[in-house]
Amino acid sequence: MSQEPAWVFGYGSLIYKVDFPFLDRRNARIDGWERRFWQGSHDHRGTPEAPGRVVTLIKAPGVRCRGVAYLVEPEVFDHLDYREKNGYARHRVPIVLDDRAAPVVGFLYVATEDNPAFLGPAPLEELAAHIAGAAGPSGSNGDYLLQLAEALHALESYDDHVHPLAERVDALRALRQGK
Ligand code: BEZ
Repeated sequence: MSQEPAWVFGYGSLIYKVDFPFLDRRNARIDGWERRFWQGSHDHRGTPEAPGRVVTLIKAPGVRCRGVAYLVEPEVFDHLDYREKNGYARHRVPIVLDDRAAPVVGFLYVATEDNPAFLGPAPLEELAAHIAGAAGPSGSNGDYLLQLAEALHALESYDDHVHPLAERVDALRALRQGK
């Protein structure tokens, strides 16, 4: 890896859980990918016996995925490689920063279907029940989803997978609490 600072694109917990130093931060998007709760989490929002579900990116021509890009020193990637070690690999991609016409080349983390923790698609109701019931060392799976939905809302971005799922998980939680 180069010794120069590099951009990393966050589309999941990197949007709201910023436990690393950065030199610059911009709202941004990547083209040709969509966010999906298709990756199993054994280490953060679930356990090896009962994995949670967290986001990964799936190739989707013509689709835009909004998130946040951070300009970071190279050593930050060591921290992120460890934090996202459960099936994610770093990919080099063009990132469109909101205030810049020409894309910059940067990195993002993707868990592809060939990793052992990949769970793949399921109907919305099944995803919601799964997420509402899972928890791991970093907290409940439902909180992860709801925090992501709020963070995207704060970016004025509607995600047609995340937001309907968050509504269902919210409703399931309310039912469980007898509200
Ligand atoms: C992200 O927020 O970009 C991210 C999500 C899952 C794994 C790694 C990174």
